[in-house]
Amino acid sequence: MLRPMEGDGAYDRHSAYQMVGGHLHADLVAAAADAIVPDNGRGSVVLVDYGCAQGRVSAPLVRTAIERVRQEHGDVPVQVYHNDLLANDWATLFERLRREDSYLHLAGGPVTPLVSATSFYEPVVPRGIVDLGLSFAAIQWLSSPGPRGCGSALYFDQLKGESRTRMADQAHADWTRFLRRRADELAPGGRMVLDMMGVPESGVAAGHQAWQLVREVCEEMLAEGQLDANRLDDYVLPVYERTADEGRRPFGESIGDRLHLDHLEMKPVPDPFTQRYQADGDASALATEFVGFFRAFSEPSLREGLGLDDAAVESLYHRLTSRIEVAAKGFAFDVHALTMVISRVD
Ligand SMILES: C[S@@+](CC[C@H](N)C(=O)[O-])C[C@H]1O[C@@H](n2cnc3c(N)ncnc32)[C@H](O)[C@@H]1O
Repeated sequence: MLRPMEGDGAYDRHSAYQMVGGHLHADLVAAAADAIVPDNGRGSVVLVDYGCAQGRVSAPLVRTAIERVRQEHGDVPVQVYHNDLLANDWATLFERLRREDSYLHLAGGPVTPLVSATSFYEPVVPRGIVDLGLSFAAIQWLSSPGPRGCGSALYFDQLKGESRTRMADQAHADWTRFLRRRADELAPGGRMVLDMMGVPESGVAAGHQAWQLVREVCEEMLAEGQLDANRLDDYVLPVYERTADEGRRPFGESIGDRLHLDHLEMKPVPDPFTQRYQADGDASALATEFVGFFRAFSEPSLREGLGLDDAAVESLYHRLTSRIEVAAKGFAFDVHALTMVISRVD
């Protein structure tokens, strides 16, 4: 049950927060692109964006990478693979590639956009060809939903005891699987720059408060007979925010023979919604904008997982908006980007 983001460009329209996160990595992407030495035999440079969605966040970063490659290797052909799930909103991504600021308009050798519409837990491109892999705010999505039979718990940090441990184990297995696939795909000398949602030292997940409010809404809708108790009992969003140690762990295991962790940091991502609220005090705008952002990534999974029809979806997000408006003063969604640079061990 892997679901992409909300379609028809909605994810991009509500990605102000992700844009802030993506830009934090511009220097790391530029440095990794500077280190690319095109393979003579293949005669081209290959970039991959894993979990690209509609492309707004990564577009400037892919462009930066190509500009840096062009500085040293002006005419080398570049292939850019855009990877996401089959049901992704590919039309919006291709619209963006036609715009004037697209990497397709850079001077120099030919640049070819390609799509790999499959899960990044599977092979995404042929073995041994990737010079630079990118991935932003995607790898916190697991390969399957969390454990079943957890009552009204909807988010990993609401799980207790054995079910929490099971979800942590699943997250570790998925992260290891992602890395194994990428180790197969990286070219000699190849690197990845990626980030995912992380949990800082304080141990408080970004989604802690928002998902607690969603849980309350679901319990209310359940009491009113608007939700199926079994569906709620069996659904936990397939998202896991990793600690820095959980990010490092596979590199101390067998994958460490194939991939080297060059750099890891946990960076707070300034939240544009609460920053604006602090400036203008407009609780209604905070709630509306935050829920637009939150809905763009959560709706497809909630709709399918909880078996919601259109009316129930509207009701859920409407109630969430009201609750956030009331809680505006103390509301926080403090994302931390767990950022890594990873290279192939040759
Ligand atoms: C929060 S969005 C991030 C999108 C974009 N990289 C950004 O920075 O805004 C997460 C993306 O990961 C994709 N995704 C989740 N699981 C995936 C998987 N197993 N394989 C490929 N893409 C996946 C989703 O479909 C979604 O487009």
